[in-house]
Amino acid sequence: MERIYLDNAATTALDPEVLDAMLPLMRDDFGNPSSTHHFGRKTRSAIETARKTIANLLNASPGEIIFTSGGTEADNTAIIRSVIDLGVRHIVSSPLEHHAVLHTIEEAEKQYGVRVTWLDANSNGHLDLTQIEQSLKTNDKTLVSLMHANNEIGNLLPIQKVADMCKANNALFHSDTVQTMGHYSIDTKMIAADFLACGAHKFHGPKGAGFLFKRENLKTHPFIQGGAQERGYRGGTENLYGIIGLAKAFEIAHRDMQKHREHVSGLKKRMIERFKSEIPGVSFNGDAEGESLYTVLNVSFPASDNGEMLLFSLDIAGIAASGGSACSSGSNKGSHVLGALNVDPKRTNVRFSFSKYTSTSDIDKAVDAVKRLIGQSLVHS
Ligand SMILES: Cc1ncc(COP(=O)(O)O)c(C=O)c1O
Repeated sequence: MERIYLDNAATTALDPEVLDAMLPLMRDDFGNPSSTHHFGRKTRSAIETARKTIANLLNASPGEIIFTSGGTEADNTAIIRSVIDLGVRHIVSSPLEHHAVLHTIEEAEKQYGVRVTWLDANSNGHLDLTQIEQSLKTNDKTLVSLMHANNEIGNLLPIQKVADMCKANNALFHSDTVQTMGHYSIDTKMIAADFLACGAHKFHGPKGAGFLFKRENLKTHPFIQGGAQERGYRGGTENLYGIIGLAKAFEIAHRDMQKHREHVSGLKKRMIERFKSEIPGVSFNGDAEGESLYTVLNVSFPASDNGEMLLFSLDIAGIAASGGSACSSGSNKGSHVLGALNVDPKRTNVRFSFSKYTSTSDIDKAVDAVKRLIGQSLVHS
């Protein structure tokens, strides 16, 4: 049976070019990068080359790249070490953040007594820049933590404006850029962020590898204690093969960015147009046709008899997408993002997310399947 993968915001398939870059090392190179003999020097050199490749693409210096196990660790490190080492007593964030940020901030509040300002999102999922600016009028050292693109609804933050605002108000700025790294080019000389997070598996790299960009002037202690790896910023023997794959995936993503962006944006547009013209009452969560990540489309289908089963039925039909029912109060289930946007719980929400490997025919088959599955059973009330 043909299977169509439309869940690329969750993770992406490994690019064969990335695999080809990793395999020779996996076969032949096993030295511990901290060893000073030939075997160690060889893998150390591979890691430092990877670091330079990534730094160059971000217009950063290699010393600003700390390899981590992925986006979650990068987010945790930025937030917790800002509190412990950089005197942060106040965090500004939004309820639409990924749990890697939300739960870390909650922990900072509980463990370290940090004050938190939660920003309001409008019904489109956008934040109010004036409210951000207001929240910075405080004597408490502040960290603003706001994602560049939302992984569920795709909304984009005007990252440069927020970074400038933070800088002007002497606040630190962390952005969870996990969904945008490798999809947008990010120039760290233009965007005055202090911390940026990246996970390789969101752009066809391996899972369990990523990095934290941390501005060079910020002196912090490691989040993971151990050896002096990563210049003392992260203990633990490096994930050599993951790092090589990460750098290769990042390089390919930047090399082909324009081409893939055009292709994937076209797919999203096609899906929007087809749903709009073929399913009465359909709408989109977030700002799908405005400031939105081109790889993500969160669709809200009108109430139907088999709405609850839609994701499951799509999977049976060979189409992998992801869910997003609204979070009912007091329950841990469902999407906290759609819950915060107060979406109508009777409607069915599905996140479709695309990659360079998605084809027009994949989009058409997915739309046809949705129409078949819910089209006959729309509840007319
Ligand atoms: C916005 C966002 N932040 C953080 C993460 C966590 O990244 P990782 O899976 O690399 O730990 C994800 C991945 O789902 C994400 O989408």
